[in-house]
Amino acid sequence: MPPPSLVVAIDGPTASGKGTLARRLARHLGFAHLDSGLLYRAVGLGLLRVGKDPADRAAAAEMARSLDPSGLADPELRSERTGHAASVVAAVPEVRGALLDFQRRFAASPPGGARGVVIDGRDIGTVVCPTADAKIFLDAGVEQRAARREKELRQRGAAIIEGAVLRDLQERDARDRNRAVAPLVRAGDAFVLDTTDMDADQAFREALAYIGSRGFGGPGGPAAEM
Ligand code: C5P
Repeated sequence: MPPPSLVVAIDGPTASGKGTLARRLARHLGFAHLDSGLLYRAVGLGLLRVGKDPADRAAAAEMARSLDPSGLADPELRSERTGHAASVVAAVPEVRGALLDFQRRFAASPPGGARGVVIDGRDIGTVVCPTADAKIFLDAGVEQRAARREKELRQRGAAIIEGAVLRDLQERDARDRNRAVAPLVRAGDAFVLDTTDMDADQAFREALAYIGSRGFGGPGGPAAEM
C-alpha cells in the first residue's frame, strides 16, 4: 500500500488569492492541485447553459450528480456571471454532497501518482479534509480583494462598473458565510494568513514556512493540476 497522500487545505473568501497560492505551492511541492470552486462553477455554468435558474435546487443537484470533470478547463468557468451562479448552487446541500465524494477521492488518490494534494475552497479544512496535514485560512480586507479582482478583470479586458465588483464580493461573502451547510469559517487549527498588506511572493513564503513547520515543505517533482 502506498503511504496516505499529504493534504494541504487552503480556504478563504472570494478573491483572497487562494488560487494563486495553491497553484504555486502545488508546483513547488510536486503535489496535484484541485481548485474546488471550479466544481461549483461547473454546476452553475451547466445550469445557465441549459437556461435553468441556479436557484432551482432540484436541477442544481441533478447537474452536480452528473458533473463531467473533463469540462473544468472551460474559460467561461472563470467569468463573474458563473462565479455568482456557483455561489447560489453552493448553498444547496445535495450539490455539496455530490461534489464531496469527488473531492475526497482526489485527496486520497492524487492524479499522476503525486505524493500529495493542495485543494483550495471554502470548506476544505473544515468539511472535505478535516484531518488535512496543513490548513491555511487565507484572508484579506474586502476593499483590497475588490481592488485585486478589478485589476485582474481589467487585464482580461472586461468592462468594470464602478463599485460593482466590491458589491458582488460583499454579496458572495455574505452568502458563503451565512449558508446553513458548510459555511465559510476558519478551521480552529488553521494557520491564518492575512494578505491585506502582502504581495503574492510574501504570501507564498509565509505559507511555505508554515508548511515546513508541519514537516513537509521540501520541493517535489511535477504534478497534475485541475
Ligand atoms: O473560489 P471560487 O470563487 O471559484 O468559488 C465559487 C463559489 O463556489 C464560491 O463563491 C462558493 O460559494 C463556492 N464554493 C464553495 N465551497 C468550495 C469552493 C467554492 O462553496 N469548497
